[in-house]
Amino acid sequence: MRTSERTFPADFTFGVATSAYQVEGGIENDWAEWERAGRLKEPHARCGRAVDHWSRYEEDYRLATAVGATAFRISLEWARIEPERGRFDEAALEGYRERLLKMKDHGLTPVVTLHHFTHPTWFHRETPWHQPESVEVFRRYSRRCAALLEGLDARVITFNEPMVLLLGGYLQGAIPPGIADGALTMKALENLVRAHVVARREVGETLGRVETGISQNMLAFAPDRWWNPLDRALVRLGGQAYNHAFHEALSTGKLRVNMPGVATARVDIPEARDSAEFVGVNYYSRAHLRFVPRPPFIEFKYRDTQGRGLTDIGWEDWPEGFLQTLRDVKRYGKPVWITENGIDDRSGTRRPQYLHTHLTQVLAARAEGVDVQGYLYWSLLDNFEWLEGWGPRFGLYHVDFDTLERRPTPACDYFRQVATGRKLVAPL
Ligand code: BGC
Repeated sequence: MRTSERTFPADFTFGVATSAYQVEGGIENDWAEWERAGRLKEPHARCGRAVDHWSRYEEDYRLATAVGATAFRISLEWARIEPERGRFDEAALEGYRERLLKMKDHGLTPVVTLHHFTHPTWFHRETPWHQPESVEVFRRYSRRCAALLEGLDARVITFNEPMVLLLGGYLQGAIPPGIADGALTMKALENLVRAHVVARREVGETLGRVETGISQNMLAFAPDRWWNPLDRALVRLGGQAYNHAFHEALSTGKLRVNMPGVATARVDIPEARDSAEFVGVNYYSRAHLRFVPRPPFIEFKYRDTQGRGLTDIGWEDWPEGFLQTLRDVKRYGKPVWITENGIDDRSGTRRPQYLHTHLTQVLAARAEGVDVQGYLYWSLLDNFEWLEGWGPRFGLYHVDFDTLERRPTPACDYFRQVATGRKLVAPL
């Protein structure tokens, strides 16, 4: 690699990412109901006060700037903002406005996600994603969110990982709303695309031109048996559906999913054409796919192919797939933002190396002409990890879940060094 390729330009953004439910605390939404129903892996885990970011936000902004971050990704909690259908909570809106202004004062540019997996408790009962009314309720909610962002120069992410929401919530029934139905999944997918389009329009009408996109969980896929044509077909069709169908719909206006026996969609949504200013990529790992001769026909596994050891959560550490993923999104011809990348590392000792190997791939992608403009580490803090509860630790800062004290992990120094020095150095 040439020296210039070891350097990030001055306008490249380093930042950190969080989501409301995982950090704020005190939120009553569909996920809290799911917990009470005992549907988590650890059925007694509760998010509860989370890591109390709702009160400790200033401290957390300081922690972010201390590692050289200049952008801070949050999400707005729909359940706080619209606790009952059509009733917007002015105090919650003001609360968010106050926090966003403070964030700005700390020199952090807000990256604001409107929807990060969770919903108000009424949503699935009254206007679930597979019904067309969902689009209109999301439009109204987005209008309120847009008004919060006046004058902040924020970047907007309408949906975080819509395919994860659909796969987990509509196809496998493992997360709210707990539906397992291929046809409804495709209806919901179509409505999520439409909801993105109307939300982006609301943001634009309120604020003028704002960079708006989605964050997509993108996995590197590989056949479990390299020689098996069915495993290879799964990689092709599954990879296309999971990684690209949504991005592609926002680029071409054509929504296409072709997973015979699982789910298929072929819908033209002309208004979705060219409806994102950037491509948001959340990259964590590689998955091996294996065809099994019974529904849902896919077995999905993480394998330790390189002897690096799986991460604590059981994922393969596969930086090579990051480059492959970034090459793959070049086709959209838009700037790329890494809206999440990180490792669950309880000891804190693997994270600097993880950062190094993954940022190396970002530089390699840039050298190949992929216009990667920003990197947001997941996450600033250890937090509540969805179905896994309090086990995993992704934070640059370790959080003591009893006292809520935040302590730097070794990766803080490394992140700061790269973010402020703009040069990729090997961790000590
Ligand atoms: C999600 C985060 C989550 C992270 C680690 C992403 O899929 O957006 O909310 O905590 O991955 O699992």
